[in-house]
Amino acid sequence: MATSLRYSALSLLLHLLAFSPSVSARPATFFQDFHVTWADSHIKQIEGGRAIQLVLDQNSGCGFASKGQYLFGRVSMKIKLVPGDSAGTVTAFYMNSDTDTIRDELDFEFLGNRTGQPYTVQTNVYAHGKGDREQRVNLWFDPAADFHTYSILWNHHHVVFYVDEVPIRVYKNNEARGIPFPKFQPMGVYSTLWEADDWATRGGLEKIDWSKAPFFAYYKDFDIEGCPMPGPASCAANPANWWEGSNYQQLSAMEARRYRWVRLNHVIYDYCTDKSRYPVTPPECLAGI
Ligand SMILES: *[C@@H]1O[C@H](CO)[C@@H](O)[C@H](O)[C@H]1NC(C)=O
Repeated sequence: MATSLRYSALSLLLHLLAFSPSVSARPATFFQDFHVTWADSHIKQIEGGRAIQLVLDQNSGCGFASKGQYLFGRVSMKIKLVPGDSAGTVTAFYMNSDTDTIRDELDFEFLGNRTGQPYTVQTNVYAHGKGDREQRVNLWFDPAADFHTYSILWNHHHVVFYVDEVPIRVYKNNEARGIPFPKFQPMGVYSTLWEADDWATRGGLEKIDWSKAPFFAYYKDFDIEGCPMPGPASCAANPANWWEGSNYQQLSAMEARRYRWVRLNHVIYDYCTDKSRYPVTPPECLAGI
């Protein structure tokens, strides 16, 4: 349980007390929980399968997915993004219900940049088939210099996107106000590395420089804790799951402070305030919601 080191002893204890056998354990190796979905030749196991390297070159990008689907929980992994001149590359880490019509999806997309210019993290939330809820944040560190933890917490109260310990996005459950919230469909965990230089960097102005290829990204500490589906419906409804606990139903005071800091200093785009796209403010964006 190497990733538990970042917890305080108390939260670790609470976590252990709340442990239930239906919750999947932390995988030791990539292939225990994941499989390659795109371009086998471009994903290499390293460190005995406890880490992987993704490759993007002119022949192909690549991708992987969890073998199972989960209803509520938390997924996290450590990622070291493409270094140097990564303009035009996109690394995605997301959950997806894999249903065409009424898709639910929670996205992290890392948009590369020219050497020395900041990576952008775009997040999006699809609920009951509707997305178009992009937000963009500039990272306050170089995500290619070292591994950082990216996680998605998903419970009955909200969805929170974290970069290390810092919440960068919160999507609350406002079903009571008629706002859709992903709740009914299990989601799988996915990641891809690909080329999208028609839109990724400065809106597509900066093209990928293939003379810098191959591009590499690294992943480790794969951690999925959630209710595996198909499985007993009672698991997802169980308020004793640690991710449903009172500490996870809203941001802690410390998290709320960090979130405010991100909102003030690092948000570079928010669909909520994009009047040309949304002359009428989307309901989930209204103050007090
Ligand atoms: C890349 O760097 C430019 C200049 O600093 C910045 O405007 C842009 O938001 C950065 N990110 C992307 C993905 O274009």
